[in-house]
Amino acid sequence: MDQAATYHVLLFLLLAVTTTWSILAPGRQNHLDMELCMGCICEATSNCNLTFHCTRGLCGPFLTSQVYWKQAGRPTIPGDHPNNKGAYIRCVTEPYCAAATVHHYLARYAQDCDGNGRIDCEDYAKIHYMGGQQCTIHMEHLGYYKVFKECHKSIQHLTG
Ligand SMILES: *[C@@H]1O[C@H](CO)[C@@H](O)[C@H](O)[C@H]1NC(C)=O
Repeated sequence: MDQAATYHVLLFLLLAVTTTWSILAPGRQNHLDMELCMGCICEATSNCNLTFHCTRGLCGPFLTSQVYWKQAGRPTIPGDHPNNKGAYIRCVTEPYCAAATVHHYLARYAQDCDGNGRIDCEDYAKIHYMGGQQCTIHMEHLGYYKVFKECHKSIQHLTG
């Protein structure tokens, strides 16, 4: 991982640790692992470009579709309402709300995609990209997956 990528992961981590998600990870270590994992998913998805808008119906740093957002329970930025016009775009292009959307989605569809006996970051990376229903499809050849792998390898030094 190059310096820019490292910076993105750390930036993301800084953003993430100031929020209080506890859906997937009651323990602190698990919580940190999840934030780092999501940092790598962000990195692989858009180079974790926090100012990214939309391309072909995919918006924000996690390239979140409207269907994905709905399946994640339609989170909103503070003061907004899911039924308001533009609530989806406002959420998924705002870093905290975008991350909350991914977090809810991953919690909802958490499963052992690769059948290695545990639900880990690799599974979450597949669920994010392939969707909750088809994460067993092989994606080892994809650029997304290669960037994710590189990033994940480097953060494992941080978490041991
Ligand atoms: C982030 O996305 C915006 C909008 O597409 C683009 O203008 C900008 O160059 C991107 N930044 C990086 C670092 O790629």
